[in-house]
Amino acid sequence: MNEGGTLWLPEQVSTLAPGMDALFYFVSWVSLIITVGVVATMFYFVYKYRRRDPNERPAPVKESKLVEISWIVVPTILVLVVFTWGFQGFIKANVAPANAYEIQVKGYKWAWEFTYPTGVTTGVLHVPEGRPVRLVMSSTDVIHSFYVPVFRVKHDVLPNRYTSVWFEATKTGEYDVFCTEYCGTEHSGMITKVVVMEQSEFNQWVLTGGMDNMSPVEIGALLYEQRGCKACHGLDGAAGVGPTFKGLYGAQRNFADGSSAEADENYLRESIIAPNTRVVEGYGPVMPSFAQLSEDEVSGLIAFIKEQE
Ligand code: CUA
Repeated sequence: MNEGGTLWLPEQVSTLAPGMDALFYFVSWVSLIITVGVVATMFYFVYKYRRRDPNERPAPVKESKLVEISWIVVPTILVLVVFTWGFQGFIKANVAPANAYEIQVKGYKWAWEFTYPTGVTTGVLHVPEGRPVRLVMSSTDVIHSFYVPVFRVKHDVLPNRYTSVWFEATKTGEYDVFCTEYCGTEHSGMITKVVVMEQSEFNQWVLTGGMDNMSPVEIGALLYEQRGCKACHGLDGAAGVGPTFKGLYGAQRNFADGSSAEADENYLRESIIAPNTRVVEGYGPVMPSFAQLSEDEVSGLIAFIKEQE
């Protein structure tokens, strides 16, 4: 499960990770040593100073200057070490290098959306290896939190405000991205991947988002997986937060306002671009608009829905 990592921490795949882990281990070991020392001393004293006789009176305690000074000075030094070390790490993790490659991140219920300087938008984050990347993040609805364990990068993503994280990936591969702020029903499904690619490979990929050789149905299937559709719309006929896609195309839809229509291409398009124009009876007007999708992507989704007979 924890490939490349240790018992305690996942693999290190960013330049920030080794420093953070070192501090984590320092704090953990110091805490462990002090805890064991305090508890062991306590048990020793309980035994050594046990009451042996009902008439026994303990001798007055003589104060020891050395002991008193040491238990003030030693913890103070430890706390200052942790503060200085942690503050340096905090500054490093919060100030992105000036040449960082910028990617826009949007969190919404319940998926992530990544927009690159080329205008390409995807649901799986792709980044080049060995180059600082800065994510500028915001949310369209509630508070989410962007978390990549192998990068040791985590930050809240808020509505009406930008937050950012940066990292420099050190190894190509595919790694997990989680949402770590409880954001509603499908919070636990708000999972995606970050794909670390070689710079030359990334330069090619970012021109098209990897969709240049895909059929519309394949594009639709990819978007269904990556853009959060699957969180609310099942393919097995069971109703979720939203209606199932199974048998949707061509079916009669009855709306909350009493009207009805056949689910043809234009209806599906409207439901993607302006989902709350006509809401199917029995469901809430909760779907975010996907007006940011390109025409090819909308056509791909419609083609994918048509396949779900
Ligand atoms: Cu988004 Cu939890």
